[in-house]
Amino acid sequence: MRTIIEPFRIKSVEPIRMTTRAERQAVLTSAGYNLFRVRAEDVIIDLLTDSGVAAMSGEQWAALMRGDESYAGSASFERFDAAVKRLMPFKHVIPTHQGRAAEAILFALVGGGGKIIPSNTHFDTTRANIEATGAEAVDLICAEAGDASSDAPFKGNMDLERLAALLEADGARVPCIMMTITNNAGGGQPASLGNIKRVAALAHRYGKLFIIDGCRFAENAWFIKQREEGQRDRTVVEIVNDIFACADGMTMSAKKDAFANIGGWLALNDDALAEEARTRLILTEGFPTYGGLAGRDLDAIAQGLSEIVDEDYLRYRVRVNEYVLERLIAEGVPVVRPAGGHAVFLDAGVMLPHVPPLHYPGQALAVALYEEGGVRGCEIGTVMFGRQPDGSERPARRELVRLAMPRRVYTQSHADYVVETILAVHQRRSELRGLRIVRQPRALRHFTAAFSPLLS
Ligand code: F0G
Repeated sequence: MRTIIEPFRIKSVEPIRMTTRAERQAVLTSAGYNLFRVRAEDVIIDLLTDSGVAAMSGEQWAALMRGDESYAGSASFERFDAAVKRLMPFKHVIPTHQGRAAEAILFALVGGGGKIIPSNTHFDTTRANIEATGAEAVDLICAEAGDASSDAPFKGNMDLERLAALLEADGARVPCIMMTITNNAGGGQPASLGNIKRVAALAHRYGKLFIIDGCRFAENAWFIKQREEGQRDRTVVEIVNDIFACADGMTMSAKKDAFANIGGWLALNDDALAEEARTRLILTEGFPTYGGLAGRDLDAIAQGLSEIVDEDYLRYRVRVNEYVLERLIAEGVPVVRPAGGHAVFLDAGVMLPHVPPLHYPGQALAVALYEEGGVRGCEIGTVMFGRQPDGSERPARRELVRLAMPRRVYTQSHADYVVETILAVHQRRSELRGLRIVRQPRALRHFTAAFSPLLS
């Protein structure tokens, strides 16, 4: 069949509260035109993030009831541990309450002043956790990633030449090499298995740890199966096993590719490092058989991991983004190509050339999408990255709006509704105006800043 359907039926629903344009305009005014300050109830389609917002399956809800809340040696931990190791063959699996807690523990151990930690692109919490130890986080993304119009299949790849040059010149300062799969910064562009293996080989040639940020590992493996030569006849589980077999450890947010609403882990092969990590875990998260989670959360993750590698699910998952993107491209809406695993990016800088970067075209577009159809996305541009440590402002490299897709939450007609909303805004794009910031905190301003619309 040509139609790729949602490979699930819906047995429990959450009503969406429909709002009028006038109501949404009032919401925007009282939220200071910042979509992070809008109540979820006032949103029709919420594409702010794909993190922690998945719909759990009936089996996951059943697994919650099996949760063993014992402080030590819980059976839930054993099921969690086995489910992780079936996919990622690491010796030690250390549960944490979410991904950034795993990062904080890892970098407390391997980071520190004077160190350099390269990655294809660090996620912001990863970067912040590295920098909090005094180390430097360096992004070495491949050149193709910079061209939004190219359909290159693996725009999440590491630039191997720059990595080799860094190791040659400054290797003594590098404790580990990271790779984020898929690469969140580009909307979930994958890295190829070949690239991942070559990064691992380089890391090991220089005696460095190779750590994967595996948040969206199943989506990445699906892209490898679809796009990489020689991988089409392999199962996603085989590809996942291969990816992690060449690493020395991983950090994970179970809020993405584990269908969980909370959770994460740090996995390591090295016994001594794992022991230090567990000691730190006890101080900050909890005992090593629950690590900041309830037993029932561990069971929901274990079950989720067996579902996320379902190939019918992954086919549908990636197809939704491709479908949205194809329809937008057909109508001439500027987007980042190709479709990523978890998000679609609109290029507000190109769509709104009359709005200068310091009038925040990405924010203007995100606000217009909310006003038009109650669709909530997230600016990734000068609001997020423009403020410098000295308080001055600089335009970001690109002005984007991310529309992240929650897992198993929305249907085809929701996707059509989102497309219709975007097209309506695109039609009247010349009328859109920028904003100015009226109040902002010193750091991470995108979460709390208040804006006021400019009239011309
Ligand atoms: N690494 C990547 C690649 C991520 O995308 C995230 C979270 C984290 C680490 C941190 O995990 O939230 O469990 O602490 N990304 C979310 C997002 C918040 O919206 O992209 P966490």
